[in-house]
Amino acid sequence: MTSHAHVNHMPAIPLYGPDFAAHPQAVYARLREYGQVAPVDIAPGVGAYLVVGYRAALDLLHDTATWSKDPRAWQATVPPDCPVLPMLGWRPNPLTSDGETHARYRRVITDAFAMIEPHTLRAETARAADSLIRRFAAAGTADLVAGYARPLPLVLFNQLFGVPYEDHDRLLAPMAGMLEAQNPEEATRAGAEFEEYVAELVAVKQRRRGPDLISRYLDHPAGLSAEEVVHHVVLTLAAGNEPTANLISNALSRMLSDDRYFSSLAGGALTARDAVHDVLRNEPPLANYGAHFPRTAVDFHGVRIQAGQLVLVSYAAANTTPDGLPPGPRTDGGAHLAWSAGPHACPVRGHALLVATTAIEQITSHLCDLEPTVPRSRLPWRPGPFHTALAQLPVRFSPVHPEQAGITPWTEGPAAGPAPS
Ligand code: HEM
Repeated sequence: MTSHAHVNHMPAIPLYGPDFAAHPQAVYARLREYGQVAPVDIAPGVGAYLVVGYRAALDLLHDTATWSKDPRAWQATVPPDCPVLPMLGWRPNPLTSDGETHARYRRVITDAFAMIEPHTLRAETARAADSLIRRFAAAGTADLVAGYARPLPLVLFNQLFGVPYEDHDRLLAPMAGMLEAQNPEEATRAGAEFEEYVAELVAVKQRRRGPDLISRYLDHPAGLSAEEVVHHVVLTLAAGNEPTANLISNALSRMLSDDRYFSSLAGGALTARDAVHDVLRNEPPLANYGAHFPRTAVDFHGVRIQAGQLVLVSYAAANTTPDGLPPGPRTDGGAHLAWSAGPHACPVRGHALLVATTAIEQITSHLCDLEPTVPRSRLPWRPGPFHTALAQLPVRFSPVHPEQAGITPWTEGPAAGPAPS
């Protein structure tokens, strides 16, 4: 679909650029004027339909007879350098597969993660957290996005993939390059380095297995080829890294700017878990995703959608308009779609929750007088149609020196690479 063919010939609303990043709820309010489904542009000249209603989102996510996750027909209609292809293009992995293939691929990931004991995951997360905190603890200031929330899942995944500590930067550097790159050449180069690194890692594990995720992917009875394993490792990193980083930084920023959390340090009223649930409902890290394509032309909540057209689900908009939910106060924190729903819902939400809450608890207990240096309303957000992502979270705190005996539980072990410049 191009940006000219739209519902009722009304203009598509852009989901890229600084306006959407700064005021997403204002944009969702405009989109709701179209009804349950609205026309958007996710990049210049790349149109899509966005499902903004909770009920319509559930209808779509559970109806695999009508909707496919396979993007190949749509992909053939966009240029090969289309900037959203890295997020939406086909790969042999669960995210872009249907039916039996999907079930086979997904089982590899769920079975491998099921073998990680919660206490091990908590301990590994705490170790990754400590190695990062050591890099800035003595400074008394830090940007908790660049220095903590974003590198933390990467350091953790390196551990879970069985990468020796001294090799961590080989993954961290190209991942940072891909995420930060301002120009396509740099992003492409970083992307190639990253895939090369993962392919090398898989080759090493093919020769010598260990007690790690990649070895479990290789040995799974589903019998993935080495190439499929590479794609599953890439998906694990891509799906696990950004949303987890955003869950941590969005929740930390809420905690640090909300007196209810601040006073609860003494009173115990609200916890890291509450902040995480607040974010899942009100600022879901994956804001708009869930790419689907109708198998044949379909009338969906009043909109005619042609076969193969791109339809995305706005978890963020649907969460904040819970039509179809029972009214009144809720004791469960409210139903939400932050993990999506249906057969493609996040397969490791328990693990992700444990990582996020541990990461938050670890830093707030080591640096207990953390204070934001910029009010939350003035914090910058990263542009992009898919995520809700803080660009920075500058803080100050009383400096803590590694040699302060009894104060720093992280004196053991090396720091994770050089401090950010
Ligand atoms: C340990 C970290 C994580 C890993 C390894 C991971 C992995 C995955 C994988 C493999 C899928 C694809 C499932 C399928 O297609 O059947 C997926 C889907 C999804 N995950 Fe996670 N995830 C992680 C953390 C998160 C976090 C923190 C969030 C946000 C709260 C999240 C939200 C989602 C959503 C919304 C989907 C559906 C994808 C879509 O919209 O198409 N995940 N995840």
